[in-house]
Amino acid sequence: EQTLKEKAPFPIGASIDPTHLKTNLRYKNVLIKEFNSITPENMMKMNMIQPAPNRFDYTKADELVNFAIQDKKRIHGHALIWHESLPTWVQNFQGDSLAWENLFKTHIQTVVGYYKGKLAGWDVVNEAIGNDGGTRNDNTNQGSIWRRKLGADYVARAFLYARQADPDVLLFYNDYGQESNPKKLQAIISLVQDLKRRNIPIDGLGLQMHIDINTSEAGINYAIQESVKTGLKIHISEIDIALNPSNSTLEKPTAEMLERQRQKYLMVVRAYKNLVPKAQQYGITQWNVGDADSWIRSYLKRNDFPLIFDVNYDRKPSYYGVLEGF
Ligand code: XIL
Repeated sequence: EQTLKEKAPFPIGASIDPTHLKTNLRYKNVLIKEFNSITPENMMKMNMIQPAPNRFDYTKADELVNFAIQDKKRIHGHALIWHESLPTWVQNFQGDSLAWENLFKTHIQTVVGYYKGKLAGWDVVNEAIGNDGGTRNDNTNQGSIWRRKLGADYVARAFLYARQADPDVLLFYNDYGQESNPKKLQAIISLVQDLKRRNIPIDGLGLQMHIDINTSEAGINYAIQESVKTGLKIHISEIDIALNPSNSTLEKPTAEMLERQRQKYLMVVRAYKNLVPKAQQYGITQWNVGDADSWIRSYLKRNDFPLIFDVNYDRKPSYYGVLEGF
């Protein structure tokens, strides 16, 4: 029987934590056998990679990069500029706009420069648009320190700085909620259209696709179609499909839930294959490998089963949905 990477007509990825690579053989084997692209789940975020001012630490990220190079997997970098996972020194940073600009530019160019030639793409800016369609110019936890300190056009400058540091790596804007929030979808499309119109170097658009079995099919199709119209490469960058978003204590998935999850994975993969022209297909990446290591459990604290491998890294019905979709 074929594995995912053998059958997939485009790259098929997972987000990875290098700790599991060392401690969990089943995790590692599934990764090697099934996927041909990886995204570091956390190890290239600013808090990990620049934990103190001008102290860059690539140790953990390099464990992933070396593994991927050895196993000939594509690497997608994630994420240079995000309002979350910031080191405390940045959260507490005092300085004028020139000092902020310098900090911002230095981070982007040091990290992109370090990985020049090794990565296929970078999520340059992650989640710059709020759920209200605005630019996160507020002081709540929905707000972005980058937006407040640098002005809304920091997004364009991030792409310019990244391009200066590596002329070849593909540069992505990445965000979530496009399929369920039309206002946010339009704001994201306008943002990237504006960048393109101004000749700001941007190559791709990431749709995270953190959805659940009830997410509307029409919404998913529409988000993909509108994104395709930008002409950018399209990455379904962090897919997971929660079974029971309203019940945080779900102990065991029912057969019916697993079947609905299979159908939804099938639907998304088919939509991607049919609606995205070949030249714009960057691939589909699942967020984590097996249900046991999903961020929905560790970070959102919900006991869900959102992925295509179960807690033992065995194939779920959803796995066969993805395979069928190819
Ligand atoms: C999440 C990781 O999965 C968690 O381990 C971490 O604690 C927080 O970030 N959107 C993104 C990802 O772009 O970087 C987030 O990853 C999930 C939501």
